[in-house]
Amino acid sequence: MNDPIPTPNFIGMLLECQQDALDVIADAEKSVDRLRIELLGGKSELAKLTKQIRLVPAVDRAQVGTVVNQVKQTILQALAARGTTQQTKTTLSFDPTMPGIAPAEGHLHIVTQAIEEITRIFERISFIRVRHPEVDWDWYAFGSLNMPENHPARDEWETFFIETFPDRKKFPIRERTIRNRIVLTPHTSNGQVREMEKGELPIRMINIAKCYRRQIDVSHTPMFHQFEGLYIDHYVSIGHLKGVLDYFAKQFFGPARKTRIRPFHFQFTEPSFEVDVTCGVCLGRARLPDGQGCKLCKGGWLELGGAGMVHPVVLKHGGVDTTKYNGFAFGWGVERCYMMKAGTQLDDIRLLYSNDIRFLEQF
Ligand code: FA5
Repeated sequence: MNDPIPTPNFIGMLLECQQDALDVIADAEKSVDRLRIELLGGKSELAKLTKQIRLVPAVDRAQVGTVVNQVKQTILQALAARGTTQQTKTTLSFDPTMPGIAPAEGHLHIVTQAIEEITRIFERISFIRVRHPEVDWDWYAFGSLNMPENHPARDEWETFFIETFPDRKKFPIRERTIRNRIVLTPHTSNGQVREMEKGELPIRMINIAKCYRRQIDVSHTPMFHQFEGLYIDHYVSIGHLKGVLDYFAKQFFGPARKTRIRPFHFQFTEPSFEVDVTCGVCLGRARLPDGQGCKLCKGGWLELGGAGMVHPVVLKHGGVDTTKYNGFAFGWGVERCYMMKAGTQLDDIRLLYSNDIRFLEQF
């Protein structure tokens, strides 16, 4: 039997063994020498239990070893007393003042730690963390973001759709269009128009939430987290966006890591960019001619997410006066950011959700 034994159970077994030994010593007719071999020898119950200490959680083994020694001492004392009086009755000794066994202490999951850190970094430049739904109308996830029905851009998000409608009377069949379909949010951009609808300007939002996509490989999980920044004010420029992105990269990754912005296309920003950081696993070596790259990155760079100037159509959907206000938005992956942190050396995103305590204890 090599199944792990919980510490309290093991201590119970030791105390039971001690009590059995004491009963045998009190009642048996045998000589003390024979009893010593029977109760403490290589084939004794106590010897068998001693060999099983390895099945107890490693953190408790030292304390369990102390209990084993105490049991042994109690049996030896009982044998010695029997040797002199032959009639001594001994009872189990229990010291309630002995320190207990400290329970194993856990810590916040590393993704939660990363979310806390990201929140603090943006708080320092007045971006306030807000919450928006993680299960939302298609309108907020796609439609309001300038992605009309049947627009191919929707396919890129590989979305989980919820087929059933909560209120069949409210949404009779003829009205069940894409607009009132419900999705597991594939990105945190659903928070953009929701935040604008609050009607409070300027906006400095950081929306951190779970996202869901039908993807799984070394750099994708079906459930992951994004953080979405949104800044709406008068005269906002790409320079402001670049400043905020550089500020975050320096704070989170350290001054040695480099970022770059590549032109890209998103329906809800114009112009749009993708933001990359040098890979924290191969430290950018894959960019060099002799470098083969690593399992995680593309040519020494890892894509963290998108960014751009908020499209006027999106501002209008949020009720923002585009003659007075404009802004920028960005959306990055929390897990990917964490993997890129100096010293993390994580080359498979799935490890974060494998629930393996040996992995999580390292952080
Ligand atoms: C978006 O989701 C856009 N909403 C970002 C955006 C926001 C652009 C605001 C412009 C303005 P994208 O699909 O590239 O973009 O995802 C952004 C980041 O989320 C990715 O770069 C990656 O870091 C992370 N990500 C995406 N899918 C997954 C996944 N399946 N597992 C883990 N991380 C993911």
